Amino acid sequence: MRVGFVQNRPIFAGVQDNLDRIEELLLGQSADLFVLPELFATGYQFKDMEESRSLAELVPGGLTTSRLTAIAKKNNTTIIAGLAEIKDDQVYNAAVITGPNGYIGKYRKLHLFDTEKNCFQQGNLPFQLFDIAGAKVGVMICFDWRFPETARNLALMGADLIAHPSNLVLTHCPQAMITRCLENRVFAITADRVGMENRLEDEEQLNFLGQSQVVDPDGNVLIRASKTEEEVQIIDIDLEKARDKFLNPRNHILNDRRSDLYR
Ligand code: ACM
Repeated sequence: MRVGFVQNRPIFAGVQDNLDRIEELLLGQSADLFVLPELFATGYQFKDMEESRSLAELVPGGLTTSRLTAIAKKNNTTIIAGLAEIKDDQVYNAAVITGPNGYIGKYRKLHLFDTEKNCFQQGNLPFQLFDIAGAKVGVMICFDWRFPETARNLALMGADLIAHPSNLVLTHCPQAMITRCLENRVFAITADRVGMENRLEDEEQLNFLGQSQVVDPDGNVLIRASKTEEEVQIIDIDLEKARDKFLNPRNHILNDRRSDLYR
């Protein structure tokens, strides 16, 4: 399977321009799956629920999902990308999965980070795996990394690969994702953004870390982007590696859990 990430530098609220830029970055790029950052087309630091609602879209049906579907068709790929979703007047920090044949599904971030709690509802959808080019793909968004239950649940369901749209501000994350992959013997694609935002008077400036990466089930960082530049990177991965949960003939990473003594 060939997978990639897009690392962009969105302009806050510049949805059309940000979508144009993604199409430009993906021009001539070929992979079975591309992962884009969290809130890649709106920017991240909303002031409040009113502001996030003003930029939230129907999924499917909204501009961003429609445009990503058109890009997926043009590039013959599947795209997983973060966006603000509105549903029944509730706003979610969500990700859409869309391919050449149209909308596939969505995920809503379970663990909201810091001021996101003022701007979004907590995710409320059950975990789901998506079939993409022969892979079982799970989705989590940025700060979900800090709760190992997220990746573990996806692995227990049979995920080969975790798509991880992100807007990283906590410096441990790129290294921590190596641990999430080792713990579960899965691949992970973290797609991050670069640049900074400083929109809230009483809050610190946010400096986004870049360093989008693909990690394999042995914890190897196969590719990692810079801290500062917009980038697309692509790599071939062997899904069989994620399907072999044995560390050696006697240790199976999931079956050796002592679920008689802990949950
Ligand atoms: C984050 O969850 N965007 C830090």
